[in-house]
Amino acid sequence: MTPAELKALVRTIPDFPKTGIQFRDITTLIGHGEGFAATVEWLGERVAGASAIAGMEARGFIFGAAVAARLGLPFLPIRKPGKLPCDTIGVDYELEYGLDRLEMDPSAVTNGQPVAIVDDLLATGGTASAATKLLRQAGAEVALAAFVIDLPDLGGGNLLRANGVEVHALMEFE
Ligand code: PRP
Ligand code: ADE
Repeated sequence: MTPAELKALVRTIPDFPKTGIQFRDITTLIGHGEGFAATVEWLGERVAGASAIAGMEARGFIFGAAVAARLGLPFLPIRKPGKLPCDTIGVDYELEYGLDRLEMDPSAVTNGQPVAIVDDLLATGGTASAATKLLRQAGAEVALAAFVIDLPDLGGGNLLRANGVEVHALMEFE
């Protein structure tokens, strides 16, 4: 399937979760078997060289875990607060529509391990930057991030690139 065909599978819901937000809903994309497979394939090709894939709760788990399994690589879950049973490191960050926190198990990566980030959507880049910071704190090298959707007007790509991360996105929405 072409990127344009995959883009047509994303549903837009106006004013969710707040007035003024155009919510780009990947539920309809993952609900299309061929579209989901083609998306995972595309993301997997963009993270070549990584030896583990990290994904952020919750939507990042859908694509990150699928990409990791497709490539036969470990998947590192980066979680919302209070979910991991082990000792964690954490970082607070800002969303397009609120505040949140991410946590991970610092022993999940080895020193210098190349880890790629996979998520459904890049908006302000707050989530992916927080994940990059956490992974680097744990000792990982983060040089690659692949997203299904980029909202370039919100500047997340520039933020990540300024932090030394190469950014790939299958599609963009204004
Ligand atoms: C969404 C999305 C990205 C993030 C992008 O997650 O899945 O992770 O926002 O926004 P940013 O670039 O401005 O940080 P959300 O925190 O809404 O959580 P969810 O996956 O649990 O729906
Ligand atoms: N996460 C942050 N901004 C979003 C948007 N506009 N649509 C879907 N998920 C998002």
